[in-house]
Amino acid sequence: MSRDTYHEASDGFRARNADTWTEEKLMILHAYANGFAQACKSAGGWYGLDLFSGTGMNYSTTRLEEMPGSPLILLEAGAPKATKVLCSEGSRRNHAALSARCEPYGARAVIYPRGDANELVPQMLADVPVRAPAFAFLDPEGSELHWSTVEAIAAHKRAQPRKVEQLILFPTDTGFVRLIADHPEKVDRMFGHGRWREIAAARLAERITADEARGDYVRLYGDGLRELGYATVLDKQMQKQSGSPLYFLIFATDHPAGRRIMDSCFDKVKLRVIEELGQGRLFDMAEPRVPRRTRLGEDGLG
Ligand SMILES: C[S@@+](CC[C@H](N)C(=O)[O-])C[C@H]1O[C@@H](n2cnc3c(N)ncnc32)[C@H](O)[C@@H]1O
Repeated sequence: MSRDTYHEASDGFRARNADTWTEEKLMILHAYANGFAQACKSAGGWYGLDLFSGTGMNYSTTRLEEMPGSPLILLEAGAPKATKVLCSEGSRRNHAALSARCEPYGARAVIYPRGDANELVPQMLADVPVRAPAFAFLDPEGSELHWSTVEAIAAHKRAQPRKVEQLILFPTDTGFVRLIADHPEKVDRMFGHGRWREIAAARLAERITADEARGDYVRLYGDGLRELGYATVLDKQMQKQSGSPLYFLIFATDHPAGRRIMDSCFDKVKLRVIEELGQGRLFDMAEPRVPRRTRLGEDGLG
């Protein structure tokens, strides 16, 4: 799967290099976290879970400047501000950078010992009160997010009317075909089952195109989220400047406000990217090869 590259930042720690699509992803996170916070006004606070936190800072390869990573975006969002943002990170150097950059936020930033997020998740969820509004950002590089983790997050507030919302990076490209061939067991862990093999076999036999296969994988993943009880599953495809597909962001909520906010973020952030990154041509290309937005939830297009 994709290999990250890093830049030495002004504070001496590493910052992850961010291309336009990473900036777009983080703009979506920023817009959603602020909308989510606002919707939590009467609750007075909320909890953020960031399982693949990175270093806390990125370096924009377009603007050539430092920019906050997902944990700082969550910590800065509001009002109301997050009561706590719970972070995990697997890489030693990233964990050191993350810990240093979150220190100014005191007890609001909880950094778990370096480790596999899939193993840390029960510990992290134990720190989220079941009555508090909560939102999880799950941003792996490739196949590191196990379905059991998604399931555990969905089950955390099982006795409550609303589940923890989840925004998940689902990698359909950046090495996915090779992953299927070389490490099918990892794909099993991502989906929580082996039904993706039917899509892979259909693609291998050329009964479906690569675009159809990509759409089918995303729908299958979305079906899994609906089986966990989420009323709405939205997705957005992220692409390179050339128009070649990279991955999907998949959002699961059972709150109508959550759906409204993310719907608007998915649409409006595109305009911000054009304005702020001067990437008009990013979105001026011919029709994308698969619909960039597919509503997988209650509207039943999936
Ligand atoms: C795409 S980057 C995250 C970027 C970050 N969310 C941001 O916005 O700056 C994925 C991160 O997950 C970390 N990682 C990979 N596998 C992991 C695992 N099993 N558990 C925890 N962290 C992991 C990587 O070291 C990397 O920092």
